[in-house]
Amino acid sequence: MLRERSVFESPTIRSDRPMKLPNTFLWGAATSPHQTEGNNVNSDWWALESSALPMIPERSGDAVDSYHRYREDMTLLGQARLNAYRFGVEWARIEPERGQISQAMLDHYRRMIDTARECGLTPMVTLHHFTSPQWFAEAGGWVAPDAVERFADYVRAVAPILVDVPWVCTINEPNMVAIFAAAQRLVSDPESFSAMTSGAMPDPDPDSGKILIDAHHAARAILRAETDAAVGWSVAQQAFVAAPGCEEQLAAANHIWEDPYLIAARDDDFVGVQAYTSRTVGPDGIIEHPEHPDNTLTGWAYRPDALGIAVRHAWEVTGGTPIVVTENGIATDDDTKRIAYTAEALAHLGQAMADGIDVRGYLHWSALDNYEWGRWRPTFGLIAVDRRTFTRTPKPSLAWLGEMARGNTLPGPR
Ligand code: FCB
Repeated sequence: MLRERSVFESPTIRSDRPMKLPNTFLWGAATSPHQTEGNNVNSDWWALESSALPMIPERSGDAVDSYHRYREDMTLLGQARLNAYRFGVEWARIEPERGQISQAMLDHYRRMIDTARECGLTPMVTLHHFTSPQWFAEAGGWVAPDAVERFADYVRAVAPILVDVPWVCTINEPNMVAIFAAAQRLVSDPESFSAMTSGAMPDPDPDSGKILIDAHHAARAILRAETDAAVGWSVAQQAFVAAPGCEEQLAAANHIWEDPYLIAARDDDFVGVQAYTSRTVGPDGIIEHPEHPDNTLTGWAYRPDALGIAVRHAWEVTGGTPIVVTENGIATDDDTKRIAYTAEALAHLGQAMADGIDVRGYLHWSALDNYEWGRWRPTFGLIAVDRRTFTRTPKPSLAWLGEMARGNTLPGPR
């Protein structure tokens, strides 16, 4: 249930004018360790990158060297006047061998937390963002009999550095993790494999889903006992909409893809909404979006309205768990388009808030152009990075989002 603490000041929004947000509203950007740090050599993803799977054509390598350059990244966000940064700690670095906890790595991540504060950024720390240690994957991953206990041990090890962190996200997009699990099971089946390589994703594996929910609840109990953090997790939302007459199919798609993970957040302190695009559900299920000139560099439909749909769905299914938008953004080379997309997404967010939905922050994906899980081409960043010199160059969208943060208002309802 919602706990009494200052980050939970509820915004009072019922106005047809642009709405002033509470000064606790988080305006920030997000990254994950594997996509930015570089050389995450003890992770399962590093091993996958070595295995020449067609859906992972490129490797992460040095990524954008944020392992060493995090202060520079955070300084740029702070200078733009953003007030929050969501980043992750990497299990594969903290526990590179089962039971072998690295104090030096915990110290490293504690320095990141302190640096965020020095840069004027409220930290939100993610404990698991797609990658696990390779030893965990080899032992069976999320469906191993002791998976929850292994994750809980890791969370116990990290808790001391999180003691004063206001926001902790236990697991990023557990429904995507369950999709990866399903995909890995299917790799040996030629027909399903060819469907996957042509862009379609399998349904989330329900067995992995149940275990991920247990792992989240175990982590939540530990963090509530040992830290002051508001605890939640973040759910990948497809902002499904029904083709005419397909409401039942829509409910079925939501039931498999999102709702169990949102229901699991009913007693969380917040739920992270992550939305990029919207997908239509037809008579035979989810309709794959066709190629279209407006598609983004990930091949997704250009749908800034997805954020409003996702926020409303999360609110309805959780029964009113406070929301933080933990990811929203666009893969594009055209920064003007990034600004246009984000402005429209924020207008939809404002309309949802005007309807009484309690949203505590907006964290844009991503702070930096980074490794997009197998490919470098889709660039989501507010900051460009030269991958040879690691030079950071802020894009106009960073200053633009900073302006939004400074104004601290969202457009009112139309
Ligand atoms: C989300 C992931 C994030 C990034 C964006 C584009 O599914 O959480 O790491 O890849 O998509």
